[in-house]
Amino acid sequence: MALLPGNSAKHAAILVGLVTLLLSLSTTCFAQTDAEGDKETDPLVLKKLEWFQDQKFGLLMHWGTYSEWQIVESWSLCPEDENWCERRGEHAKDYYQYKTAYENLKTTFNPVKFDPDSWAAAAKAAGMRYVIFTTKHHDGFCMFDTKETDYKVTSKDCPFSSNPKSNIAGEIFASFRKQGFGIGAYFSKPDWHNSDYWWPYFPPFDRNVNYDIKKYPQKWESFKTFTYNQIKELMSNYGSMDILWLDGGWVQPMTPTSPRWGKSPTDQNIDMPKIAAMARSLQPGLIIVDRAVEGRYQNYRTPEQEIPDTALSYVWETCMTMATSWSYVATDTYKPTWKLIHLLVDIVAKGGNLLLNIGPSPEGELAPASLDRLKEIGAWMKVNNSAIYNTRAIAPYKEGKVCYTRMPDKTINAICLADEGEKQLPATISITAFTPKAGSKVTMLGVKEPIKWERSAKGFTIQIPEAVRTNPPCEYAWTFRFMAE
Ligand code: GLC
Repeated sequence: MALLPGNSAKHAAILVGLVTLLLSLSTTCFAQTDAEGDKETDPLVLKKLEWFQDQKFGLLMHWGTYSEWQIVESWSLCPEDENWCERRGEHAKDYYQYKTAYENLKTTFNPVKFDPDSWAAAAKAAGMRYVIFTTKHHDGFCMFDTKETDYKVTSKDCPFSSNPKSNIAGEIFASFRKQGFGIGAYFSKPDWHNSDYWWPYFPPFDRNVNYDIKKYPQKWESFKTFTYNQIKELMSNYGSMDILWLDGGWVQPMTPTSPRWGKSPTDQNIDMPKIAAMARSLQPGLIIVDRAVEGRYQNYRTPEQEIPDTALSYVWETCMTMATSWSYVATDTYKPTWKLIHLLVDIVAKGGNLLLNIGPSPEGELAPASLDRLKEIGAWMKVNNSAIYNTRAIAPYKEGKVCYTRMPDKTINAICLADEGEKQLPATISITAFTPKAGSKVTMLGVKEPIKWERSAKGFTIQIPEAVRTNPPCEYAWTFRFMAE
């Protein structure tokens, strides 16, 4: 089928709706308490969480057959009257016809230009250090060679199945692992293709399971087994895994405090203790991110499309789109490079990681706009990455245009964010939060000579040499390093 009609006004409405959804979800993320019971005790997991906090910058990729229609991932299958669930195109009038056409995208999915080695190289050059890939989104289409369903990229009626790289998730994980990346599997707990989640006997009603689990416990048991088996495959057949990133937070036991999503929120206990025990027996120290589910299987929090105002008391990662959509949209608007770098710096100053999303095209390519940005971020990281990796937050985190990070030896970096279009440094920069130790040096990353500084009434003032002002070592943000008293 041809691409859905690209009506930009409608598209904008979908995106506005999506942002609204994201904001409501992420508010819930921040609102979660850091209860004692949440605390992880497995020393291997704790060690990996330290590793995780050192990485700072990762790549998220949303990819599935939905890229063929350039739609909001799986969401048009969800019968909720929200604009991000809107169906468009020739099948839109009839839900069942639409779902059939959507699922038939499997028979045309053929990303012959898929070259994960080049993606890993581009991400590495940008300074990214881990990857999280959608092995299965809510639509249930598997981007890995599962034995549990035929709704998968390696099914013989998917044209890409005959390609030597057809086990897409496996290829991506292998390519990125070769480049030293940490590896994470995004996996949707809800599965809108599985007949034990949306039983065809009843029409689907919203994003939730569509039958009464108490009345049909066997069906739910069977869905639990399916989920367990798929996660077991991912943990067994794809080499060493660092992160299991579980999406679809409405699949969780219903407690008085659990969020209510959809029209018929219901208790959907998938048995995380059993899944986690299995996953960690196969992947010791595995970080599990049961997103938006309070409790011990959410090793870190994942605010969506937003940055907290200050440092948080728990491990966190903002997931954010490089453009506006998680999945591929040819006409999408990309954030400018300066903005992406400022987001990264702001997040790192508050102790978080940035997981930046790019949606590959149905042909298997990353849009040139995303590759350009990766390159430009890489140029900045080349100069400044030692102020990013392995750092931790230090109060006051961010003051106006200055963000702070603390290195393992307690050295402080003041990363000064340039205004949009500001290519030259000012003659002086004032830092109020800290003062360097008497007689110590202040350096600027990318500049050999030490930089002159003077104590001021509050903090200190840095004097930028003329040659550096007019010919700075990088654009967008400049880092000054010192040992504070
Ligand atoms: C939002 C989207 C979902 C996507 C997720 C990634 O919740 O609705 O499709 O997978 O963000 O964080």
